[in-house]
Amino acid sequence: MAFARNQWYVAAYGDEVGRDLLVRTVLGEPLVLYRTEAGQAVALADRCVHRRYPLSASRLDGDTIVCGYHGFTYDSGGTCVFVPGQQRIPRTARVPSYPVVERDSFVWVWIGEPDRADPAGVPRAPWLADPGYAVVRGMEPLNARYGLLVDNLMDLSHETYLHGGYIGTPEVADTPITTQVDEDRGVVYVSRRMDDAACPPFYARSTGIQGRITRWQDIEYHPPCLYLLHSRIAPQGVYPPADGPDSAAFHAEIVYAITPSTEDTTYDFWAVARDFAIDDESVGEYLRTSNHTVVMQDVTALNLLERVIAAEPDKYQELSINIDTGGLAARRMLARLVEAGAPQRALQ
Ligand code: FES
Ligand SMILES: [Fe+2]
Repeated sequence: MAFARNQWYVAAYGDEVGRDLLVRTVLGEPLVLYRTEAGQAVALADRCVHRRYPLSASRLDGDTIVCGYHGFTYDSGGTCVFVPGQQRIPRTARVPSYPVVERDSFVWVWIGEPDRADPAGVPRAPWLADPGYAVVRGMEPLNARYGLLVDNLMDLSHETYLHGGYIGTPEVADTPITTQVDEDRGVVYVSRRMDDAACPPFYARSTGIQGRITRWQDIEYHPPCLYLLHSRIAPQGVYPPADGPDSAAFHAEIVYAITPSTEDTTYDFWAVARDFAIDDESVGEYLRTSNHTVVMQDVTALNLLERVIAAEPDKYQELSINIDTGGLAARRMLARLVEAGAPQRALQ
């Protein structure tokens, strides 16, 4: 699957970027990330212009980065400010620097033409930095192409089979979805509303609800990178009031950032923000462990699937059914972003 360039991607959580050099590869481009002394996050190409030594194997000197091989020194904009053994710095001595925006605890980088980067285009996940929510989170590297993670998250019917005993119950796979596509905003919505469902351990233990529940899963996918799952859990038959806050329900905002690393590897950033038991560390610990287990079940399945797909001699004809409507809409939108973000062809 091709990459959608000229888009924002999550490269890291904000607290991963500091005065130690962090390496990430996004859309096949090796990056080194660090923070200036004033606290600004910086992303530079991780290749010294001289002999391609990785700058991530180098060191910071104030806000500059000193190549660990022969000492070419770059400022935080990627311009070379020192070369060894001569006064004249060649005009082409610079490394690409990537526009960076920090929002909602994520460090977003723009992969594409820097002058097309608009910080207003970064999609939001405000719960991750809202004191009214408690957050558990992590990141797992995936040995699979990013499209497989998009498919996986757009079709939660797999919860029943792959995540039974954690977040899956029979009602998830049994309940039909509704899908909407907002072409103008570039969002795919998928909803599954279960009026009368068993409560999976993930929510029974964290909310304390006993018995059956009304469970809503409302997905918003902002291709290419940000996926939001609004999860509403309430005792069976309890619906939001016509006015006022939905305080009889429990809300979990489940956020994934799907960042293609190489053609067959992906960063799977995951977070669960909850508006209940926010001061209860044991609930946080339970949700962290439990969601990590669920993520690893997906990682194992998708890594397996990647090996199957990579070994196929010819194009395999998939069979799609109703549950795939959201995933197919996401694929179509991604294909359009790939096309729109491709570098303009040079004039002949
Ligand atoms: S490779 Fe970086 S200074 Fe030579
Ligand atoms: Fe899953």
